[in-house]
Formats: sequence, C-alpha cells, structure tokens
Amino acid sequence: MSQFQKKVELVRSEVIARDVVRLTLNAPEIAAAAMPGQFVMIQTAPGKDPLLRRPFSIHQTSSEGYLQILFKVVGRGTQLLAQCRVGEKLSLLGPLGKGFVLCERGNACLVGGGMGIAPMLFLASRFQQQARYGAAPKVILGARNREELVPLISDFQNLGLEVLAATDDGSFGHHGLVTDVLKKMNIGPDFTVYSCGPRPMMAAIHHLCLKENIHCQVSVETVMACGMGACLGCAVPLKAGGYAHACSDGPVFEAGELLWSL
Ligand SMILES: Cc1cc2nc3c(=O)[nH]c(=O)nc-3n(C[C@H](O)[C@H](O)[C@H](O)COP(=O)(O)OP(=O)(O)OC[C@H]3O[C@@H](n4cnc5c(N)ncnc54)[C@H](O)[C@@H]3O)c2cc1C
Ligand code: FES
Repeated sequence: MSQFQKKVELVRSEVIARDVVRLTLNAPEIAAAAMPGQFVMIQTAPGKDPLLRRPFSIHQTSSEGYLQILFKVVGRGTQLLAQCRVGEKLSLLGPLGKGFVLCERGNACLVGGGMGIAPMLFLASRFQQQARYGAAPKVILGARNREELVPLISDFQNLGLEVLAATDDGSFGHHGLVTDVLKKMNIGPDFTVYSCGPRPMMAAIHHLCLKENIHCQVSVETVMACGMGACLGCAVPLKAGGYAHACSDGPVFEAGELLWSL
C-alpha cells in the first residue's frame, strides 16, 4: 500500500458550523491512493509546537487530486489548522491505516455521528461511483443540532442519496439518537452497517447489529502519536484478548473483534 509524506497546498478553507472546519488540500498522490476509512496525519504548525501530527479521516477525494478533511476545533492543533490560510503548505502523511471493506453483496447502511460523519462521505461516494456495489446505500447522520448537521447532509444528497437525520436537541430530523433511526429501519442480515462516531454510539450500533445478525464495521478513534504502528500509543482492546493498534490494524475493525465493555 503506497504512503506519502508531502507538503501540500491548502486551496480552500470553509467554516461549516461553529468550530467545524473543512479544508481542501491539493494532494494528488495521497488522494489517488486513499481508500474510504483511511486517515492522514497532519503537522499542524511548522515548528515543534505541537510536536505531534494529528490524525484526520479522509473526508473526500476528487479525481483532480484534491483531498478534504472535516474537523472540529477541540485543542491547539485543530485551532492552528482552522487558522491556516489558502496558499499555505501543510505536511501530510498518508493514506494510513486499514479502511472499510466494501461488501459487494447485500445492502449497505452508513451511520455517522458528529465528526464521525467525516469518513462517511468518501465511503458513500465510493459506493455510488462503482456499480458493482448494487443498490444505493442508506445513510443515517446524527449531530448535536441543525447547525452542525444540515451543511453536511447536502453533500450526501448531491451524490443522489437519501439521508435520515437525528439531532440531540431535535432541531432537525429525529429528536434523539442515530441508533433509534437504525432500529426503526428494521434492516436484516442482508445488510452491512458501516459506522463512525462517538464510542457509545458505536457500541450501541454493534449490540443492535449483533442481535439482528447484521455485519458491522466501525472506525475507532484513539489518541495517536505516530500513526504508523511504531509507538504503541493507540492500543484498542480485543474481544479475544490482547490489543490491536488503531493506526495500523484499524482504524476500521469488524465490530465483533473489539471489546466494548471497557
Ligand atoms: C483515525 C482518526 C481519525 C480522526 N478523524 C477525525 C476527523 O475526521 N475529524 C475530527 O474532528 N477529528 C478526528 N479525529 C480526532 C482528532 O485527531 C483530534 O480531535 C485532534 O487530534 C485533536 O487535536 P488538538 O491538538 O486540537 O487537540 P488536543 O490538544 O490534542 O486535545 C484536545 C482534547 O481532545 C481530546 N482528544 C484528542 N484526540 C482525541 C481523539 N482521537 N479522540 C477523542 N478525544 C481526543 C484530548 O484528550 C483533549 O481533551 C480523528 C482521530 C483519529 C485517531
Ligand atoms: S499511533 Fe503509534 S502505534 Fe499507533
């Protein structure tokens, strides 16, 4: 699998909602090699503060060589990225990790919560681009409120997909959790669920899928230092005992492989 370390130009910066930013980078090699569910490590400032690169899911790629990330400002690294100006260069390492395995048989349901929506757009567009994946995937997206969700929904609709929405405050779509929406859909074992979001959300999705005998893949987030399997900083506990590296064995795992009780 090809990986690159490149200085790439920021060509667009959009404020999607309060503290939610999307960057478009001209990164042709990384964009061409990327698969949905993979991530990039980004140096957020030219000097040594912050020292460590930060991991971000690949949100979307284009045939023109652009790559997008979508992120929430939560600390110093993301604050610096949000302040980057068009024309600035950023050091990117990627694509990294193991992404989603797209099942060619059966139906797909994509469930993204909060910034877990980021990798779902790339996944949705890959399903739509390639006819061998059959019927259009079902998409369920959740966020805290209308402001955070609505600007992201239109990207999925532009792919020709219908989106079911849920918000914590009920300001758009279902008032409650994405798992309520998933339950109501009454999907069965002919489906694969692909999910990314907060851990409690993914745990609930895993348990629902287990009960209904539905195949489920999840993309997990951990703190990461190297992103390449070298520092042991991203350990996730496995059901069979022991640990996996989220950066090199994941970040996408079969939900049943992971230990959810911790
Ligand atoms: C594979 C992967 C993909 C990711 N994709 C995205 C994405 O697409 N969009 C996005 O907004 N974020 C994503 N993240 C999380 C993102 O990497 C962190 O939010 C970012 O590193 C925070 O950097 P910071 O310097 O701004 O904050 P820091 O100063 O490093 O931390 C600020 C706060 O956020 C917490 N934090 C830091 N990293 C994480 C994490 N991974 N999970 C939970 N809490 C964390 C810290 O404990 C602290 O409380 C991803 C993480 C991983 C591992
Ligand atoms: S982040 Fe270093 S081993 Fe995974």
